[in-house]
Amino acid sequence: VREQVEKRPGVETELVDVREIPLPPDDAGESTKDPRFSGIALRADALVLVVPEYNHGYPGSLKKLLDTNLKEYVHKAVGVCGVSAGPWGGARAIENLLPVLRELGLVTIFWDGNFPHARKLFDEAGRILDAGYERRIDRFLNELIWMARVLRYGREQVPLQ
Ligand SMILES: Cc1cc2nc3c(=O)[nH]c(=O)nc-3n(C[C@H](O)[C@H](O)[C@H](O)COP(=O)(O)O)c2cc1C
Repeated sequence: VREQVEKRPGVETELVDVREIPLPPDDAGESTKDPRFSGIALRADALVLVVPEYNHGYPGSLKKLLDTNLKEYVHKAVGVCGVSAGPWGGARAIENLLPVLRELGLVTIFWDGNFPHARKLFDEAGRILDAGYERRIDRFLNELIWMARVLRYGREQVPLQ
C-alpha cells in the first residue's frame, strides 16, 4: 500500500508502525501523546490504516494509539485496509473500527482495501503475489486522495458554522 501511495505525484507519505510508538500501559488518551505521531497526524491530510483482524476486531494497540490525538484528525480523510488469515480480508475489523474513526472526527471513505489469506497472498519478504490487488488499491487511493483534497479545501476555505 505504501508503494502504491508513493507512486502518486504530489503525495508525501510517512509510515508509522504502531509498535514503534511508546505508549504507557497505565494511562490513555491525549495525555499520552507521542510527539512524532502527533506531528505526523497534524501534518497529514489523510490517513491509511492497515489493520490485521484479531478475533473479528481491530488490535487494541491501534485503538490506544489513535486515542492519543483528537484535534489533529478533525475533518481529515481516512481509508482502512484489512488484513486477515481468513477469506474476508479484515472486513469485520474494518466495520468495527468505523464508529471509532467517526468519533475521532475523521471522514471515512466508501472504499476499503482487503487482503485475505495473508499467508498465501504475500511472500516471505512481504511482497504481494497477486498483481490484481494493485488495481483495487488504485481505486481506493483515487477516492482517498479526492476526499483528502476536498477536506483540505474545506478546512482552508469554508468557515465553520
Ligand atoms: C489473536 C489473533 C486473532 C486473529 N483473529 C483473526 C480473525 O478473527 N479472522 C482472521 O481472518 N484472521 C485472524 N487472525 C489472523 C491475522 O489477521 C493475521 O495473522 C494478520 O492479518 C497478520 O498480522 P500479524 O502479523 O499481526 O499476525 C488472528 C491472529 C491473531 C494473532
